[in-house]
Amino acid sequence: MGYPRQRPRRLRSSPALRRLVSEITLQPRQLVLPLFVADGIDEPRPIPSMPGVVQHTRDSLRAAAADAVRAGVGGLMLFGVPREEDKDADGSAGADPAGILNVALADLAADLGDATVLMADTCLDEFTDHGHCGVLDAAGRVDNDATVEHYVRLAVAQAQAGAHVVSPSGMMDGQVGAIRDGLDAAGHADTAILAYAAKFASAFYGPFRDAVGSSLVGDRHSYQQDPANAREALREVALDIDEGADLVMVKPALGYLDVVAAAAELSTVPVAAYQVSGEYAMISAAAERGWIDRQAAVLESLTSIRRAGADVVLTYWATEAADWLV
Ligand code: PBG
Repeated sequence: MGYPRQRPRRLRSSPALRRLVSEITLQPRQLVLPLFVADGIDEPRPIPSMPGVVQHTRDSLRAAAADAVRAGVGGLMLFGVPREEDKDADGSAGADPAGILNVALADLAADLGDATVLMADTCLDEFTDHGHCGVLDAAGRVDNDATVEHYVRLAVAQAQAGAHVVSPSGMMDGQVGAIRDGLDAAGHADTAILAYAAKFASAFYGPFRDAVGSSLVGDRHSYQQDPANAREALREVALDIDEGADLVMVKPALGYLDVVAAAAELSTVPVAAYQVSGEYAMISAAAERGWIDRQAAVLESLTSIRRAGADVVLTYWATEAADWLV
């Protein structure tokens, strides 16, 4: 008596035993690197709220993408930052084949071929002068169905430019089905859709809005989800799968691991989770102050997202983490 027969610590007693019984894998191929490319800049421009992340020029983007591929990263997610004077109410620079996002996609498609998966953010907010993810009606509200038509044009332009995967992130109803139909009609049946299915109206996107020079005044509560609603998130996931999503995503990641787990349980397609800019900024800021161990915190956060059930994790640390993992 007094000595436990059950000793879970036995399996923790050596590195070899711990390695043998580790439940979760974290591998470079499971990571996707989000990248920003800006029009009209000569040098990469640092993003102060995301130390180590920059707005790329077309050339520096090619170098960063090649480095990610070298590290074995599973995919790249590209965001375009147009010049201020190219923004308009309809975000028309997004669908323009000569627009920054599409020319950069074509650059990477030419450089990398099928060496990694090339993804594009399919949304209007980077390109609109009002900063909303859609076009506005006469009353100034985001017009769902008119916006979806714009998304179809964006998606087709991105597929044309060489994206393997388009990623509608605006949370408009019916966006996935409409994009599927539009891609098929334009001869892009092989282009996949990664749906931002459960995207919450989060304060943790703050640094991203610096990163893309967002013009947003107001908020996105009429289209992004209430952080309180997990059941509604599952409805969004189910609808997107029904409309033809090839992968579904939950975003942000760390505050929503319950939703990631529930989505993974329900989903018949692979599930992604997006470790967003504010999550990056929090760990970076604490590490800069010496308050936490940066590498350990990054790997622990990524492992947690995988443990919750995400097959794929979008993270600004993708290349760096991939190098740590080999
Ligand atoms: C919208 C979009 C956003 C992010 C990815 N796609 C911003 C928003 O919804 O306001 C945020 C990503 C991040 O914070 O890292 N195009």
